[in-house]
Parts: sequence; structure tokens; C-alpha cells
Amino acid sequence: MTGPLNTTGYNREEDEDIELKLRPTRFDEYIGQDKVKENMQVFVEAALQRGETLDHVLLYGQPGLGKTTLSGIIASAMNARLRITAGPAIERPGDMAAILNDLNEGDFLFIDEIHRLPRNIEEILYPAMEDFVLDIIIGKGPAARSIRLDLPRFTLVGATTRIGLLTAPLRDRFGVVHHLEPYSVAHLCTIITRSATVLGVEIQEAGAEEIARRARGTPRIANRLLKRVRDFAQVRYDGIVTHAVAKDSLDRLDIDPRGLDAVDKKILCAIIEKFGGGPVGLDTLAASIDEEAGTLEDVAEPYLLQLGFIQRTPRGRIVTQLGYQHLGIVPPVAQGQLLLNEV
Ligand code: ADE
Repeated sequence: MTGPLNTTGYNREEDEDIELKLRPTRFDEYIGQDKVKENMQVFVEAALQRGETLDHVLLYGQPGLGKTTLSGIIASAMNARLRITAGPAIERPGDMAAILNDLNEGDFLFIDEIHRLPRNIEEILYPAMEDFVLDIIIGKGPAARSIRLDLPRFTLVGATTRIGLLTAPLRDRFGVVHHLEPYSVAHLCTIITRSATVLGVEIQEAGAEEIARRARGTPRIANRLLKRVRDFAQVRYDGIVTHAVAKDSLDRLDIDPRGLDAVDKKILCAIIEKFGGGPVGLDTLAASIDEEAGTLEDVAEPYLLQLGFIQRTPRGRIVTQLGYQHLGIVPPVAQGQLLLNEV
């Protein structure tokens, strides 16, 4: 199916179709997260054997690690329908009540960014998750009364990038809690090779590995890079993604050999140049580079922390020796050591 072209000539609908095609739909197609996958398969099988619905599941981890994909797989293994929504999309208690009221027995309700649900809406979920009932307040003031509606048994899958922001009462109502880890280069390589097959593009192992190394441990980024490298391979080369093609394409996209992009470099350089290497608070840092503090904390920072290029201290973020090394800048401590050694 092709959608209408927008003014940039970029066919968004087609890209979304591709995105869907790249998503695995069964456990045996899902690569990586072995422990989570194995445990979930047991819980699914046990629930199926008992003829019960699955307990509520909370998935947390960085963006792009496959929380939505995994819930789709779990729902389909349970032969269930999956309803998808997100915390910020549910603004009023009535929105949540309508979603819950619309569920059928056995349905899966996926709430992305569940930490962003307003507190008064979150409270509707407590009795819904625990007792499968919906308490509705009718009227206002002294005339207000509460009526209780029964809900079908359903499974809530909550996804969050920020488990720390979840309230304890909500967290405690999930029977299964799983953390999705960043993917190894080897697993990403397998995902990229599988995606290349789905896209019908020829790729060599070294080409897949070069993309995997720069994909920040994230399948979503790996697939996005693959699509762009495929464009270069098609237009500038002979269509085959070799190591040289992947390297040249990713260099042109300003994705460096460890997967850092322009925003990451801006962060590191700002800490070094504007704040003497740190410590600097997140909000001050974000304002200094004109980025959202939330984006910085959720998207850029986890990877820089993972690489050990920055550290969080009680007084703010600092660039580490490794961070300086990566940028090819001599760290002030090393300069100091040099001076001391020379004395
Ligand atoms: N595409 C995105 N994530 C994937 C995964 N974990 N396994 C296979 N293909 C994927």
C-alpha cells in the first residue's frame, strides 16, 4: 500500500509499513532479551494451560528496545486482541473509563509511557487492575455517588523508560516486571541481517556489523540506519551493503564509530567547553544547547552513561576520561598528572 506523498516527497505511510514489516510477530522471530523471552513464554504457556488471562506486565527500558513489539508478541501468543494507547494521550478520567469499558474478555491493553499518566487517572487503574471493576463518580458535591461497573478480565501491559517515576501503588499491581537491556552487537547484527532479508537488500556480514556497532544497542536505531544505508547502497553503489558502503554511509550521516550523533557530541563538548568538564546540572546543560531536558535524560544520556563517557554525580554530569579520549581532547586531570610527573 502506498500513501499520498507529502510536499517533501517523503512517503511516510510507506516507511511506517516497512516499520511494521520489520517487527517480529512471534517469540521464535524475536532476537535477544533471552531471559525476558524465556520467562514470558513460560507465563504465557501456564496461563493458556489454565485457561486464564495473563497477569499484568510492566516492561521498562530505554526507548527503541522493543517494548511494543514484545507486547504484540505476547498478546498474539495468548490469541488476544491488543489495544494500544499511551500515557500522554489519556487526558481525562473519562478517557480512561472509555478505554477500559471498551475492552473484551482476554484483551491486552498496552499503555506506553505509563509514567506520564496523570495521578487521578492512574487511580482509576488500581481497582481495574486488581478487581476488574471500574468505579465511576456520577454528579458533583453532596449529590455525587459512585457506581461500580464490572470489567472483563484483561491484561495491562505498561511500558516505561522511567521506572523510577512510577508510583509504588501502580508498580506493585504488576505481577510481572521485566527490564529490557540494550542489545549486544552480535544480536543487533542478527536483527539487521533479518531486516535486510525482509527489505530485500543484499548485505554482507561486515556491513551488518558496522551498522550494529553504531546502533547504540537499539534495534529501532539499527533498522533506521539500515534503511538509510540501503539508500546510499542503491544510489551511490551497486546496491550491496558491504563494510565500506556501511562505513561511508554512516560517516556521511554523522554517526560516529561508536554510534554518537551530533546531539551527543554537542552534549559532551558543552560540558567540556562551557562548564569546565562538569559537574553541571541537567537543566542548565539542556538550556545551554537548546535541547529538552527530558529528551536529553531519556535518549542521549543513557547511551553516554552506558559507554562511560559521562558520569552522574550528586552535583551534576561530568565528562569522564573515556569521554575526553573519544573526542581526542586531553582531559584536565591528565594535564595535571603530566605537570606533576614533570616536577
Ligand atoms: N526488530 C526489532 N526488534 C527485533 C528483535 N528483537 N528481534 C527481531 N527483529 C527485531
